Amino acid sequence: MNRCGVTVLGATGSIGLSTLDVIARHPQKYRAVALTAHRDVEGMLRLCRLHHPEYAVMADADAAQQLAAQLRRVDGDIEVLAGEAGLVQVAELTQADQVMAAIVGAAGLLPTLAAARASKRILLANKEALVMSGALFMNEVHNSGAELLPVDSEHNAIFQCMPSGYRAGREAAAIRRILLTASGGPFRDYPLEKLSRVTPAEACAHPNWEMGRKISVDSATMMNKGLELIEACWLFAVPAQRIQVVLHPQSVIHSMVDYLDGSVLAQLGNPDMRTPIAHALAWPERIESGVDALDIFRIARLDFEAPDPARYPCLRLACEAWELGGTTPAILNAANEVAVSIFLEGRIPFTGISQVIEHTLGAVAAEPADTLQRVLDANAQARFVATQFVCGQGWRSGT
Ligand SMILES: NC(=O)c1ccc[n+]([C@@H]2O[C@H](COP(=O)([O-])OP(=O)(O)OC[C@H]3O[C@@H](n4cnc5c(N)ncnc54)[C@H](OP(=O)(O)O)[C@@H]3O)[C@@H](O)[C@H]2O)c1
Repeated sequence: MNRCGVTVLGATGSIGLSTLDVIARHPQKYRAVALTAHRDVEGMLRLCRLHHPEYAVMADADAAQQLAAQLRRVDGDIEVLAGEAGLVQVAELTQADQVMAAIVGAAGLLPTLAAARASKRILLANKEALVMSGALFMNEVHNSGAELLPVDSEHNAIFQCMPSGYRAGREAAAIRRILLTASGGPFRDYPLEKLSRVTPAEACAHPNWEMGRKISVDSATMMNKGLELIEACWLFAVPAQRIQVVLHPQSVIHSMVDYLDGSVLAQLGNPDMRTPIAHALAWPERIESGVDALDIFRIARLDFEAPDPARYPCLRLACEAWELGGTTPAILNAANEVAVSIFLEGRIPFTGISQVIEHTLGAVAAEPADTLQRVLDANAQARFVATQFVCGQGWRSGT
């Protein structure tokens, strides 16, 4: 039997490692044909030894040289590529039937678009790519006949609750609302007046999920839910008004679909990304993922509440950006990436993140997002404006 070839973009990250864990459980079905990372040479070397891909790509050119030198001693058959061109090349490989898009942030946009253009099955974790370029990306998927499977746990849950035969990007019949669940992050019950003093380590300590640092901070601000709301509008062709964000602290229900007849379908499971990854890899079949069975008696109760707008200004900003449309979501995303990375360096307070984004949204004029160049320009301009704003504020951590 021919094994399914998988390119894993962002292989050294949290989603990349979970993907490789699932692939390794099914060596007769899947093989990793290409792995990519940014600078983590040691991590990539370990993965190359374990998975023997045909290609290993480092986005950073120096890191690629180091990896090539080290691999020559271990496995000379692996071809090392560098830079964005290398990422795009392995997203288009004929040997790759599926591409896991798990680079964090805007850096994933071009390879993910390339996978769409090359008609791959795309397992989409990199929500930022879709937020930035929604219309362009969905057009590529439709025109090329690529298959799009959501990996974000909420969107994967919604996909699983859709009518049988449903394909991402189409409007489904008889749906009243989508209920997009959110844990509320580590500061759900934290005193509002103390939020400005929380540390990067506290913001990254998510109560239920183990994730990369950027998405962990996004979960704490709930920008993650804002990006997911935009992602859901594109993936399920629904207006934002028909998506209700629901705080659900246990993270056991991963989202719900509310049908016109009053039925509400939910997908439940332990908070472990190997479930949506295994679902997307094997769809429409099911495979074992390594995730424990859900112990419903231990969970015992499920709580729901509406998010408090005063606690989560980033969620409001994302909703506004979606309504304004054009390049506004790309501007929102870029400003957020800058703000989060500067917060993680300890240079702005947690509450400064939404201020940087609000300022940038007001300062960068939106354009129609009808060409890739316009999206990339908006991304670059927003990064510049957000960085300048931070420099001009004279913020110090904890102020
Ligand atoms: N983690 C989760 O549970 C989860 C759940 C749902 C959705 N997602 C989404 O999945 C994506 C990945 O999240 P993650 O938590 O796995 O992130 P992560 O742990 O930070 O990993 C990010 C990956 O992207 C690579 N990368 C970073 N910057 C890059 C660049 N400039 N060029 C090329 N590659 C780059 C990293 O390489 P290095 O290791 O070399 O830096 C790493 O392999 C994000 O879009 C996130 O929103 C994550």
